[in-house]
Amino acid sequence: MFGPAWRDVDAAPQAPRRHWWQDRQAELGAIAAEGTPAYVYHLPTVIERAERIRLLGLDRCFYAIKANSHPALLRVLAARNFSFECVSVGELAHVREVLPELPAERLQFTPSFATRNEYAEACSLAHWITLDSLYPLRHWPELFAGRTISVRLDPGYGLGHHAHVKTGGAESKFGLALNELEAFVRLAGQVGARIEVVHAHVGSGVTDKAHWANLFAQLVGHAEAIGTVKAINVGGGLGVPYRDKDNDFDIYALAVALAECRRQWPQFGLWMEPGRFLSAECGVLLTHVSQVVDKLGVRRVGLDAGMNALMRPALYQSRHRMVNLSRSSEPAERRVDVVGPICESTDVLARGIDLPESTAENDIILIDTAGAYGFVMANQYNKRALPREEILDV
Ligand SMILES: Cc1ncc(COP(=O)(O)O)c(C=O)c1O
Repeated sequence: MFGPAWRDVDAAPQAPRRHWWQDRQAELGAIAAEGTPAYVYHLPTVIERAERIRLLGLDRCFYAIKANSHPALLRVLAARNFSFECVSVGELAHVREVLPELPAERLQFTPSFATRNEYAEACSLAHWITLDSLYPLRHWPELFAGRTISVRLDPGYGLGHHAHVKTGGAESKFGLALNELEAFVRLAGQVGARIEVVHAHVGSGVTDKAHWANLFAQLVGHAEAIGTVKAINVGGGLGVPYRDKDNDFDIYALAVALAECRRQWPQFGLWMEPGRFLSAECGVLLTHVSQVVDKLGVRRVGLDAGMNALMRPALYQSRHRMVNLSRSSEPAERRVDVVGPICESTDVLARGIDLPESTAENDIILIDTAGAYGFVMANQYNKRALPREEILDV
Protein backbone atom coordinates (compact mmCIF):
# COMPACT_ATOMS: atom_id res chain seq x y z
CA MET A 1 0.00 0.00 0.00
CA PHE A 2 2.80 2.43 0.91
CA GLY A 3 5.88 2.55 -1.29
CA PRO A 4 9.43 3.12 -0.05
CA ALA A 5 10.18 6.54 1.44
CA TRP A 6 11.72 9.05 -0.96
CA ARG A 7 14.74 9.11 1.32
CA ASP A 8 15.30 5.40 0.56
CA VAL A 9 14.82 5.78 -3.15
CA ASP A 10 17.19 8.70 -3.33
CA ALA A 11 19.30 7.70 -0.35
CA ALA A 12 22.19 10.06 0.14
CA PRO A 13 24.60 8.89 2.84
CA GLN A 14 24.08 10.93 5.99
CA ALA A 15 26.86 12.94 7.61
CA PRO A 16 29.05 10.93 10.01
CA ARG A 17 27.21 10.70 13.32
CA ARG A 18 28.72 11.60 16.68
CA HIS A 19 28.42 8.79 19.19
CA TRP A 20 27.80 9.54 22.87
CA TRP A 21 30.86 7.56 23.91
CA GLN A 22 33.19 9.75 21.86
CA ASP A 23 32.80 12.44 24.53
CA ARG A 24 33.13 10.06 27.49
CA GLN A 25 36.40 8.28 26.85
CA ALA A 26 38.08 9.11 30.16
CA GLU A 27 35.09 7.80 32.12
CA LEU A 28 34.94 4.67 30.00
CA GLY A 29 38.65 4.12 30.58
CA ALA A 30 38.07 4.32 34.33
CA ILE A 31 35.20 1.81 34.11
CA ALA A 32 37.35 -0.54 32.03
CA ALA A 33 40.14 -0.27 34.59
CA GLU A 34 37.78 -1.76 37.18
CA GLY A 35 37.39 -4.91 35.10
CA THR A 36 36.27 -6.06 31.69
CA PRO A 37 34.25 -7.21 29.88
CA ALA A 38 31.84 -4.50 30.96
CA TYR A 39 28.67 -3.26 29.30
CA VAL A 40 28.02 0.45 29.77
CA TYR A 41 24.56 1.91 29.13
CA HIS A 42 24.00 5.63 28.51
CA LEU A 43 20.51 6.47 29.77
CA PRO A 44 20.18 9.83 27.94
CA THR A 45 20.39 7.85 24.69
CA VAL A 46 17.52 5.60 25.82
CA ILE A 47 15.48 8.68 26.71
CA GLU A 48 16.21 10.25 23.33
CA ARG A 49 15.08 7.08 21.52
CA ALA A 50 11.94 7.00 23.67
CA GLU A 51 11.26 10.57 22.51
CA ARG A 52 11.58 9.43 18.90
CA ILE A 53 9.07 6.64 19.55
CA ARG A 54 6.70 9.22 20.99
CA LEU A 55 6.63 10.83 17.52
CA LEU A 56 4.79 7.76 16.26
CA GLY A 57 1.69 8.69 18.25
CA LEU A 58 1.09 5.08 19.28
CA ASP A 59 -1.86 4.26 21.48
CA ARG A 60 0.40 1.91 23.38
CA CYS A 61 4.05 1.00 23.15
CA PHE A 62 5.44 -2.11 24.82
CA TYR A 63 9.22 -2.24 25.31
CA ALA A 64 10.43 -5.75 24.39
CA ILE A 65 12.57 -6.39 27.45
CA LYS A 66 14.31 -9.35 25.85
CA ALA A 67 16.58 -6.77 24.17
CA ASN A 68 17.92 -5.41 27.46
CA SER A 69 16.24 -5.90 30.81
CA HIS A 70 18.53 -3.79 32.98
CA PRO A 71 16.42 -2.26 35.80
CA ALA A 72 17.64 1.27 34.99
CA LEU A 73 16.29 1.01 31.43
CA LEU A 74 12.98 -0.41 32.62
CA ARG A 75 12.55 2.44 35.12
CA VAL A 76 13.36 5.13 32.55
CA LEU A 77 10.86 3.68 30.09
CA ALA A 78 8.13 3.02 32.66
CA ALA A 79 8.38 6.68 33.70
CA ARG A 80 7.73 7.58 30.04
CA ASN A 81 4.58 5.52 29.96
CA PHE A 82 5.94 2.49 28.17
CA SER A 83 4.36 -0.90 28.77
CA PHE A 84 6.45 -4.08 28.66
CA GLU A 85 6.49 -7.11 26.41
CA CYS A 86 7.81 -10.28 28.02
CA VAL A 87 8.43 -13.70 26.53
CA SER A 88 8.77 -15.73 29.71
CA VAL A 89 7.52 -15.83 33.28
CA GLY A 90 11.07 -14.99 34.27
CA GLU A 91 10.85 -11.72 32.34
CA LEU A 92 7.42 -10.94 33.79
CA ALA A 93 8.66 -11.59 37.32
CA HIS A 94 11.68 -9.39 36.65
CA VAL A 95 9.51 -6.44 35.57
CA ARG A 96 7.26 -6.98 38.60
CA GLU A 97 10.28 -6.93 40.89
CA VAL A 98 11.80 -3.79 39.33
CA LEU A 99 8.45 -1.99 38.99
CA PRO A 100 6.18 -3.35 41.73
CA GLU A 101 3.58 -0.62 41.18
CA LEU A 102 3.17 -1.32 37.47
CA PRO A 103 -0.40 -2.52 36.73
CA ALA A 104 -0.82 -5.89 34.97
CA GLU A 105 -2.50 -3.90 32.19
CA ARG A 106 0.96 -2.70 31.13
CA LEU A 107 2.36 -6.20 30.80
CA GLN A 108 2.10 -8.43 27.77
CA PHE A 109 3.14 -12.09 27.58
CA THR A 110 4.19 -13.19 24.09
CA PRO A 111 5.84 -16.56 24.54
CA SER A 112 6.82 -19.25 22.08
CA PHE A 113 5.85 -22.86 22.79
CA ALA A 114 5.42 -22.14 26.50
CA THR A 115 4.24 -24.91 28.82
CA ARG A 116 0.79 -25.00 30.40
CA ASN A 117 2.29 -24.10 33.77
CA GLU A 118 4.05 -21.09 32.32
CA TYR A 119 0.84 -19.83 30.71
CA ALA A 120 -1.02 -20.39 33.98
CA GLU A 121 1.52 -18.35 35.92
CA ALA A 122 1.71 -15.64 33.26
CA CYS A 123 -2.08 -15.24 33.40
CA SER A 124 -1.72 -14.18 37.03
CA LEU A 125 0.99 -11.60 36.21
CA ALA A 126 0.08 -10.03 32.85
CA HIS A 127 -3.18 -8.77 31.44
CA TRP A 128 -2.30 -9.22 27.78
CA ILE A 129 -1.75 -12.88 26.97
CA THR A 130 -0.79 -13.74 23.41
CA LEU A 131 -1.51 -17.09 21.78
CA ASP A 132 -0.04 -18.07 18.44
CA SER A 133 -1.44 -21.52 17.79
CA LEU A 134 -4.62 -23.50 18.38
CA TYR A 135 -2.88 -25.77 20.88
CA PRO A 136 -3.33 -23.78 24.12
CA LEU A 137 -7.05 -23.16 23.48
CA ARG A 138 -7.61 -26.79 22.52
CA HIS A 139 -5.67 -28.39 25.35
CA TRP A 140 -5.89 -25.87 28.22
CA PRO A 141 -9.25 -24.10 27.66
CA GLU A 142 -9.71 -23.56 31.42
CA LEU A 143 -6.77 -21.13 31.44
CA PHE A 144 -8.39 -18.75 28.98
CA ALA A 145 -12.07 -18.93 29.94
CA GLY A 146 -13.35 -15.42 30.59
CA ARG A 147 -10.00 -13.87 29.59
CA THR A 148 -8.99 -11.22 27.14
CA ILE A 149 -6.44 -12.60 24.67
CA SER A 150 -4.32 -11.44 21.82
CA VAL A 151 -3.73 -13.56 18.72
CA ARG A 152 -0.32 -13.49 17.05
CA LEU A 153 -0.67 -14.05 13.34
CA ASP A 154 1.95 -15.14 10.84
CA PRO A 155 1.17 -12.83 7.92
CA GLY A 156 3.00 -15.22 5.61
CA TYR A 157 6.41 -13.57 5.42
CA GLY A 158 9.36 -12.68 7.60
CA LEU A 159 11.77 -9.74 7.47
CA GLY A 160 15.00 -8.83 9.22
CA HIS A 161 18.75 -8.38 9.16
CA HIS A 162 19.46 -12.14 9.07
CA ALA A 163 17.58 -15.35 8.33
CA HIS A 164 17.76 -16.24 12.04
CA VAL A 165 15.68 -13.24 13.09
CA LYS A 166 12.82 -13.64 10.62
CA THR A 167 9.71 -14.67 12.51
CA GLY A 168 7.13 -15.21 9.81
CA GLY A 169 6.51 -17.53 6.90
CA ALA A 170 6.39 -21.32 6.59
CA GLU A 171 9.96 -21.75 7.89
CA SER A 172 9.20 -19.95 11.13
CA LYS A 173 7.84 -21.47 14.35
CA PHE A 174 6.10 -18.22 15.29
CA GLY A 175 2.54 -17.13 14.65
CA LEU A 176 -0.81 -18.65 13.75
CA ALA A 177 -1.13 -19.39 10.04
CA LEU A 178 -3.81 -17.24 8.47
CA ASN A 179 -5.74 -20.28 7.29
CA GLU A 180 -6.21 -21.31 10.94
CA LEU A 181 -7.62 -18.01 12.11
CA GLU A 182 -11.24 -19.01 11.57
CA ALA A 183 -10.79 -22.13 13.68
CA PHE A 184 -8.98 -20.05 16.33
CA VAL A 185 -11.86 -17.57 16.54
CA ARG A 186 -14.39 -20.40 16.82
CA LEU A 187 -12.40 -22.12 19.54
CA ALA A 188 -11.89 -18.88 21.45
CA GLY A 189 -15.69 -18.41 21.36
CA GLN A 190 -16.29 -21.92 22.70
CA VAL A 191 -13.72 -21.43 25.45
CA GLY A 192 -15.14 -18.03 26.42
CA ALA A 193 -11.98 -16.04 25.57
CA ARG A 194 -12.36 -12.63 24.00
CA ILE A 195 -9.88 -11.66 21.24
CA GLU A 196 -9.13 -7.97 21.73
CA VAL A 197 -5.78 -7.68 19.97
CA VAL A 198 -4.47 -8.88 16.64
CA HIS A 199 -0.69 -9.06 16.70
CA ALA A 200 2.15 -9.76 14.28
CA HIS A 201 5.92 -9.41 14.58
CA VAL A 202 7.73 -10.59 11.48
CA GLY A 203 11.34 -10.02 12.46
CA SER A 204 14.07 -7.79 13.77
CA GLY A 205 16.37 -5.21 12.21
CA VAL A 206 13.83 -4.17 9.59
CA THR A 207 14.80 -1.07 7.63
CA ASP A 208 11.79 -0.80 5.30
CA LYS A 209 9.80 2.02 6.91
CA ALA A 210 6.68 1.09 4.94
CA HIS A 211 6.53 -2.35 6.56
CA TRP A 212 4.52 -1.55 9.72
CA ALA A 213 1.83 0.44 7.93
CA ASN A 214 1.52 -2.28 5.29
CA LEU A 215 1.24 -4.88 8.03
CA PHE A 216 -1.41 -2.83 9.82
CA ALA A 217 -3.40 -2.58 6.59
CA GLN A 218 -3.09 -6.33 6.09
CA LEU A 219 -4.27 -7.08 9.64
CA VAL A 220 -7.28 -4.73 9.51
CA GLY A 221 -9.32 -7.21 7.47
CA HIS A 222 -8.67 -9.97 10.00
CA ALA A 223 -9.44 -7.67 12.93
CA GLU A 224 -12.75 -6.69 11.32
CA ALA A 225 -13.65 -10.33 10.65
CA ILE A 226 -13.02 -11.26 14.29
CA GLY A 227 -15.35 -8.49 15.42
CA THR A 228 -14.13 -8.00 19.02
CA VAL A 229 -10.71 -6.52 18.28
CA LYS A 230 -9.79 -3.16 19.82
CA ALA A 231 -6.14 -2.85 18.85
CA ILE A 232 -3.67 -4.02 16.25
CA ASN A 233 -0.11 -4.63 17.42
CA VAL A 234 2.35 -4.47 14.52
CA GLY A 235 5.31 -5.69 16.58
CA GLY A 236 8.81 -4.31 16.86
CA GLY A 237 11.82 -4.84 14.67
CA LEU A 238 12.87 -1.25 13.90
CA GLY A 239 16.42 -1.37 12.56
CA VAL A 240 19.37 0.51 14.01
CA PRO A 241 22.62 1.63 12.33
CA TYR A 242 25.39 -0.81 13.25
CA ARG A 243 27.84 0.33 10.58
CA ASP A 244 29.03 3.84 9.71
CA LYS A 245 27.44 3.55 6.31
CA ASP A 246 23.99 2.68 7.74
CA ASN A 247 21.57 5.59 7.90
CA ASP A 248 19.57 6.30 11.05
CA PHE A 249 16.15 4.69 11.05
CA ASP A 250 13.80 7.26 9.50
CA ILE A 251 11.28 7.59 12.31
CA TYR A 252 9.54 10.48 10.55
CA ALA A 253 8.74 8.34 7.52
CA LEU A 254 7.31 5.70 9.83
CA ALA A 255 5.29 8.33 11.71
CA VAL A 256 3.75 9.60 8.47
CA ALA A 257 2.82 6.10 7.32
CA LEU A 258 1.29 5.20 10.70
CA ALA A 259 -0.65 8.48 10.83
CA GLU A 260 -2.28 7.46 7.57
CA CYS A 261 -3.28 4.11 9.13
CA ARG A 262 -4.85 5.91 12.07
CA ARG A 263 -6.71 8.23 9.71
CA GLN A 264 -8.11 5.35 7.66
CA TRP A 265 -8.91 2.97 10.52
CA PRO A 266 -9.45 5.04 13.68
CA GLN A 267 -11.55 2.26 15.19
CA PHE A 268 -8.40 0.25 16.02
CA GLY A 269 -5.75 1.21 18.54
CA LEU A 270 -2.23 1.17 17.11
CA TRP A 271 0.30 -0.71 19.22
CA MET A 272 3.98 -1.55 18.74
CA GLU A 273 6.69 -3.34 20.72
CA PRO A 274 10.23 -2.29 19.82
CA GLY A 275 13.25 -3.54 21.75
CA ARG A 276 16.42 -2.93 19.79
CA PHE A 277 15.51 0.60 18.71
CA LEU A 278 15.29 1.75 22.32
CA SER A 279 18.35 0.02 23.71
CA ALA A 280 20.95 -0.87 21.06
CA GLU A 281 22.68 2.46 20.69
CA CYS A 282 22.81 3.25 24.40
CA GLY A 283 25.21 0.39 25.04
CA VAL A 284 28.88 -0.35 24.46
CA LEU A 285 30.92 -3.35 25.54
CA LEU A 286 34.34 -2.53 26.96
CA THR A 287 37.04 -5.17 26.66
CA HIS A 288 40.81 -5.47 26.99
CA VAL A 289 43.17 -6.91 24.41
CA SER A 290 44.62 -10.21 25.61
CA GLN A 291 47.10 -10.99 22.79
CA VAL A 292 47.89 -9.93 19.24
CA VAL A 293 48.86 -12.90 17.06
CA ASP A 294 49.88 -13.11 13.38
CA LYS A 295 49.21 -16.45 11.72
CA LEU A 296 49.45 -17.29 8.03
CA GLY A 297 48.90 -13.72 6.95
CA VAL A 298 46.03 -12.96 9.33
CA ARG A 299 46.48 -10.73 12.35
CA ARG A 300 44.17 -11.62 15.21
CA VAL A 301 43.46 -9.27 18.06
CA GLY A 302 42.30 -11.33 21.03
CA LEU A 303 39.91 -9.85 23.59
CA ASP A 304 38.88 -10.87 27.08
CA ALA A 305 35.30 -11.03 25.73
CA GLY A 306 34.05 -13.42 23.12
CA MET A 307 30.80 -15.06 22.10
CA ASN A 308 30.18 -15.64 25.81
CA ALA A 309 29.83 -11.87 26.32
CA LEU A 310 28.39 -10.86 22.94
CA MET A 311 26.74 -13.59 20.95
CA ARG A 312 25.38 -11.58 18.01
CA PRO A 313 28.37 -12.01 15.66
CA ALA A 314 28.37 -15.80 16.17
CA LEU A 315 24.56 -16.09 15.92
CA TYR A 316 23.88 -13.69 13.05
CA GLN A 317 27.25 -12.72 11.57
CA SER A 318 26.41 -9.24 12.79
CA ARG A 319 29.02 -6.51 12.58
CA HIS A 320 29.72 -4.06 15.37
CA ARG A 321 31.88 -0.97 15.09
CA MET A 322 35.06 -1.40 17.21
CA VAL A 323 37.41 1.28 18.40
CA ASN A 324 40.71 1.12 20.24
CA LEU A 325 40.05 3.62 23.04
CA SER A 326 43.66 3.47 24.18
CA ARG A 327 44.84 4.73 20.79
CA SER A 328 41.90 6.76 19.56
CA SER A 329 44.17 9.43 18.09
CA GLU A 330 45.91 6.91 15.81
CA PRO A 331 44.52 5.98 12.39
CA ALA A 332 42.79 2.60 12.16
CA GLU A 333 44.69 1.17 9.22
CA ARG A 334 45.62 -2.40 10.12
CA ARG A 335 43.21 -5.07 8.89
CA VAL A 336 42.55 -7.63 11.63
CA ASP A 337 40.16 -10.27 12.85
CA VAL A 338 38.91 -9.83 16.41
CA VAL A 339 38.46 -13.01 18.44
CA GLY A 340 37.55 -13.99 21.99
CA PRO A 341 38.78 -16.56 24.51
CA ILE A 342 36.10 -19.20 23.92
CA CYS A 343 37.12 -22.61 22.62
CA GLU A 344 34.87 -22.57 19.55
CA SER A 345 35.67 -21.68 15.93
CA THR A 346 32.63 -19.39 15.93
CA ASP A 347 34.24 -17.19 18.57
CA VAL A 348 35.02 -14.41 16.12
CA LEU A 349 33.66 -10.97 16.98
CA ALA A 350 34.74 -9.32 13.73
CA ARG A 351 36.47 -10.28 10.49
CA GLY A 352 38.51 -7.86 8.41
CA ILE A 353 38.03 -4.68 10.42
CA ASP A 354 40.59 -1.91 10.80
CA LEU A 355 42.32 -1.08 14.09
CA PRO A 356 45.48 0.94 14.76
CA GLU A 357 48.70 -0.80 13.68
CA SER A 358 50.13 -0.54 17.20
CA THR A 359 47.15 -2.22 18.95
CA ALA A 360 48.67 -4.18 21.80
CA GLU A 361 47.99 -6.20 24.94
CA ASN A 362 45.91 -4.34 27.57
CA ASP A 363 44.51 -1.78 25.13
CA ILE A 364 40.83 -1.05 25.69
CA ILE A 365 38.61 -1.99 22.75
CA LEU A 366 35.11 -0.54 22.68
CA ILE A 367 32.44 -2.54 20.86
CA ASP A 368 29.67 -0.19 19.82
CA THR A 369 25.88 -0.57 19.55
CA ALA A 370 25.88 -3.46 21.98
CA GLY A 371 22.97 -2.38 24.19
CA ALA A 372 20.44 -4.73 22.61
CA TYR A 373 20.75 -8.52 22.62
CA GLY A 374 24.14 -8.16 24.30
CA PHE A 375 24.23 -8.83 28.04
CA VAL A 376 20.85 -10.60 27.90
CA MET A 377 22.42 -13.34 25.76
CA ALA A 378 25.72 -13.49 27.67
CA ASN A 379 26.51 -16.85 29.22
CA GLN A 380 29.13 -18.63 31.28
CA TYR A 381 30.28 -21.11 28.67
CA ASN A 382 33.82 -22.33 29.39
CA LYS A 383 33.12 -21.24 32.99
CA ARG A 384 33.82 -17.61 32.14
CA ALA A 385 32.27 -14.92 34.29
CA LEU A 386 29.37 -12.82 33.04
CA PRO A 387 30.27 -9.27 31.94
CA ARG A 388 29.68 -6.40 34.39
CA GLU A 389 27.02 -3.77 33.67
CA GLU A 390 27.41 -0.07 34.42
CA ILE A 391 25.04 2.84 33.97
CA LEU A 392 25.80 6.40 32.92
CA ASP A 393 22.71 8.38 33.84
CA VAL A 394 23.83 11.73 32.50
C1 LIG B 1 7.27 -10.85 19.61
C2 LIG B 1 8.39 -9.88 19.58
N1 LIG B 1 8.12 -8.58 19.70
C3 LIG B 1 9.08 -7.64 19.68
C4 LIG B 1 10.41 -7.99 19.53
C5 LIG B 1 11.44 -6.90 19.53
O1 LIG B 1 12.15 -6.85 18.36
P1 LIG B 1 13.21 -5.68 18.16
O2 LIG B 1 14.15 -5.74 19.29
O3 LIG B 1 13.87 -5.99 16.88
O4 LIG B 1 12.45 -4.41 18.12
C6 LIG B 1 10.76 -9.34 19.37
C7 LIG B 1 12.16 -9.72 19.17
O5 LIG B 1 12.54 -10.80 18.96
C8 LIG B 1 9.72 -10.31 19.40
O6 LIG B 1 9.98 -11.61 19.28
